[in-house]
Amino acid sequence: MVTKKPPHDIHDDRKVINTAKFGRFGGKFVPEVLMTCLTQLEAEFNLVLHDSQFQEELRTALRDYIGRETPLYFAERLTDYYKDKNGGEGPEIYLKREDLSHLGAHKINNAIAQAMIAKRIGLKSVVAATGAGQHGVASAAACAKLSLECTVFMGKVDMEKQASNVLSMKLLGAQVKPVEGTFKDASSEAFRNWVGNLETTYYLMGTVVGPHPCPMMVRKFQSVIGLETRRQAMEKWGGKPDVLVACIGSASNALGLFHEFKGDQDVRLIGIEAAGLGLDSGRHSATLSRGEVGVYHGAMSYLLQDEEGQILGPHSIGVG
Ligand SMILES: Cc1ncc(COP(=O)(O)O)c(C=O)c1O
Repeated sequence: MVTKKPPHDIHDDRKVINTAKFGRFGGKFVPEVLMTCLTQLEAEFNLVLHDSQFQEELRTALRDYIGRETPLYFAERLTDYYKDKNGGEGPEIYLKREDLSHLGAHKINNAIAQAMIAKRIGLKSVVAATGAGQHGVASAAACAKLSLECTVFMGKVDMEKQASNVLSMKLLGAQVKPVEGTFKDASSEAFRNWVGNLETTYYLMGTVVGPHPCPMMVRKFQSVIGLETRRQAMEKWGGKPDVLVACIGSASNALGLFHEFKGDQDVRLIGIEAAGLGLDSGRHSATLSRGEVGVYHGAMSYLLQDEEGQILGPHSIGVG
C-alpha cells in the first residue's frame, strides 16, 4: 500500500554533525597520534557540507562521472512471482539500481566525495581496503579522476575470488597490495600503512565503520540513494515506499537508503544480515543480530569476537 503524505524535513545533519557517538556506539577510540588528522578531517567535512563550490563539483561528478541518478526499476517478474505464490496478494517490488552507476556499485558515491576532500586537504595519495573489490575499484576510479595515487589492500583469498575487480583496479592505475587472509586483515594492513604516512596519505573508508567522522561521512555521501528514492517514489506512484530492504555488509548501502527515511514512521526499514549456516551455528556473518559490544578499528559496535575480545572471522561463501 502506498501512502500519500508529503515528504517532510526529517533530519538536519547540522544538529548531529559534531556528535561522535550514537548512544554508546561509534566514537573515536584511536591512539593520540591519529587525533590531529581526524580532527582536521572532521573540520574539512563540516566545511564542505556548506561549501557551495564543493557541493556543485560533487553534484557534477555524481551526474557526469558516476551517471546518477540511478533508476528506480519496477521488478515486474519478481512482483508477479510473489503475487502468484500468495493468491494475487503481494508487494510491488522496485529495485534501486545502484549497479547501474559507474563501475557497478554504490561505493563510488562515497569514494568520489572523500577523494575530493583528500585533494582539498592537500594530500597526494589514498589508501583503501577492500573485500569484494568494489570499494577498491571505486577508490581507484575516484583517484584516477582526481590525479591521486591509490593503493588498495586486499586479502589474498578475496583477490582470487574477485580477480576481475583486481584487474579493474590495476587498469585504473591503482597499486593492489595482497595481504594474507581476507578483508579484516586487509583493513588492518591499510590502517597500519596510513598511520605510517599521515603527512601524505588519506585513508578512504568504504563503509560506515571506523572512528568519527568516517561513518558519518560515508552515511552522508551515500544518502544520495535515499534522497533519489524518495523523489522517484513520489514521481512513480505519488507516495513513499512502505518497506525499504537492504543488505548489510557493513551497511553503507543500507544507511544510504535508510537515512533519508529514518523519521518516517510509516516506512519500515529492514536490514538483512547473512545467517550463513544458521544463527545458532556459530558460522554466520550476523554481527548485529549475534555480535557483542566491543571496540574495533576506532569505534564501538557489535562485533563477532571471542571471550578475549579478539575478532572472529565471519562465515561467508562470499568475499571479504
Ligand atoms: C555491491 C555491494 N553491495 C553491498 C556491499 C556491502 O557493503 P555495504 O554494506 O557497506 O554497502 C558491497 C561490499 O563490497 C558491495 O560491493
